[in-house]
Amino acid sequence: MTLNEIFLARERLLGELDTIATAPELEAFKLSHLTRKGTIAAMFDDLRAVPKEEKPQAGKELNVLRQLVEERFKEKESVLAAGPATPRGSIDLTMPARTVPVPEPGHEHPLAKTLNEMIAIFERLGFAVEYGPEIEDDEHNFSKLNFPPDHPARDMQDTFFVKPSVDWTHADSLPLVLRTHTSPVQIRLMERQKPPIRAIMPGRAFRNEASSARSAVAFFQLEGLVVDRGVSMADLKGVLLSFARQFFGSDVKIRLRPSFFPFTEPSAEVDISCYICGGKGCRVCKNSGWLEILGSGMVHPNVLSACGIDPEVYTGYAFGMGIDRTAMMRYGISDIRDFFENDLRFLEQF
Ligand code: DAH
Repeated sequence: MTLNEIFLARERLLGELDTIATAPELEAFKLSHLTRKGTIAAMFDDLRAVPKEEKPQAGKELNVLRQLVEERFKEKESVLAAGPATPRGSIDLTMPARTVPVPEPGHEHPLAKTLNEMIAIFERLGFAVEYGPEIEDDEHNFSKLNFPPDHPARDMQDTFFVKPSVDWTHADSLPLVLRTHTSPVQIRLMERQKPPIRAIMPGRAFRNEASSARSAVAFFQLEGLVVDRGVSMADLKGVLLSFARQFFGSDVKIRLRPSFFPFTEPSAEVDISCYICGGKGCRVCKNSGWLEILGSGMVHPNVLSACGIDPEVYTGYAFGMGIDRTAMMRYGISDIRDFFENDLRFLEQF
């Protein structure tokens, strides 16, 4: 057996392996070449007849041959075990799809969703949408809304002062505040637009209070204002009932309770019948059957006058509701801070 014969045998065995396409053929290959009585074992036996000088080289090449054939044999075995190969150019419809990570589409924040629905309802009722600044002067946040100079809401307890008052007798040294409600936007609107006025004013408001499940230092309100000739409390009630039915459900009722706000006279707190229990009494309405949703009233004549609108000619109504509070009621959220913590486990539920 010459070295050349070893090389030729190697090529022949590898070539044979290459053409094998079935498991029985592979089994036959094993029996005739890889067993103790097979071709390769016989070649090792033949080493004895190789001239002494060529023996080491021949032994080495035989080992290479055996190793290569065994490797290719194992490869072939696993290819055949994996099943038939797909013919080139065809598509295997049974192959599992590759899972490509698809980015989750974003969606509206529950507060934005609530606000957009409110806006849509009021727009259908003929209201325009107006905005005002979050940093206000004392005049718009308090004075022109008929807050007396010593009203407790001006107190440091409730109001964030951006610039404290230096001298209360000079207008340009009056304080600047983070608006404590959206009502100053009413004033700004009446200063620049004469009646008829019919607008809602959504926005952020701030109060210097301890944050808790029920109150946050920054929250959202939606203000409403209608001023025209002959506007009455009945108009207010009609608009609020229509809003409540569209927003909470077509069979909710509303009720007005006497209340007090410096900028309205008379003033009323508005409740809706509990949309969970239908007014029978449950945990959400604390067994009262009613849920408070907003403050409202007829615009105080002093407020109209302060904005250059003649209260003898015009009347108006106004209302203000918490957007966060309303969203909490609607979705059964018990902690206002959930809106601002950006926890995806919370946000993804909307
Ligand atoms: N500004 C009031 C608040 O923050 C809410 C409010 C009550 C607004 C009555 C109004 C209103 O326009 O008429 O509590």
